[in-house]
Amino acid sequence: MTKPLFITLEGTEGVGKTSNMEFIKSMLNDKGIDFVETREPGGTPLGETLRAMLLGEDFKGMSDDSELMLMFAARAEHIEQVIKPALEKGQWVLCDRFTDATYAYQGGGRQLNIKRIEGLENWVLGDLRPDLTLLLDAPISVGRERAGKRSTPDRFEQERDGFFNRVRDTYLSRAKAEPNRIKVIDASGDLNSVQQHISSIINKIIF
Ligand code: TMP
Repeated sequence: MTKPLFITLEGTEGVGKTSNMEFIKSMLNDKGIDFVETREPGGTPLGETLRAMLLGEDFKGMSDDSELMLMFAARAEHIEQVIKPALEKGQWVLCDRFTDATYAYQGGGRQLNIKRIEGLENWVLGDLRPDLTLLLDAPISVGRERAGKRSTPDRFEQERDGFFNRVRDTYLSRAKAEPNRIKVIDASGDLNSVQQHISSIINKIIF
């Protein structure tokens, strides 16, 4: 049996993460791969409670440091309860966002010190890293237009374009630094071409 893979999906708001997640799931199912689908922040009862606090209105004014540490608290629980056990059982893990989102949103968006994020990453993740990260990329205006058609914006979606441009730039510079792991997918085009690109990447990693 080949080693189970840990795949993450990333991108700014409105780039089509949800529909492409469904597409990846159907590809893995068609290939008979046993996998766990999960998300961050979230994926465990504690993580989902922290997600509600992080995205909702009740703690709208939380400090940037609290936000960073709550993201990692949710992640610590998620790794121990879901990600590691699945990989140890031979199941693949397909995760909607992971630590690259912390570098992008808390590092880029909130402009927190990267050294702090690296410290927490090393502490909480140990040597666990995603095997493949699909980064759906589109200009912020494109995503805004798509996301704007949905319900009430959450605490992050309420941020301004400057914040999201920093998030996008951070994602892209991480992809440039780690081209083998992070694959950038142009998400500004039609869904069909985005999915063709995704399937060519996934087909290459499945033997
Ligand atoms: P979403 O996954 O439904 O898009 O929403 C999660 C929000 O949380 C999204 O705006 C990105 C944000 N986020 C962070 O700011 N840092 C993180 O580490 C993660 C995982 C998500």
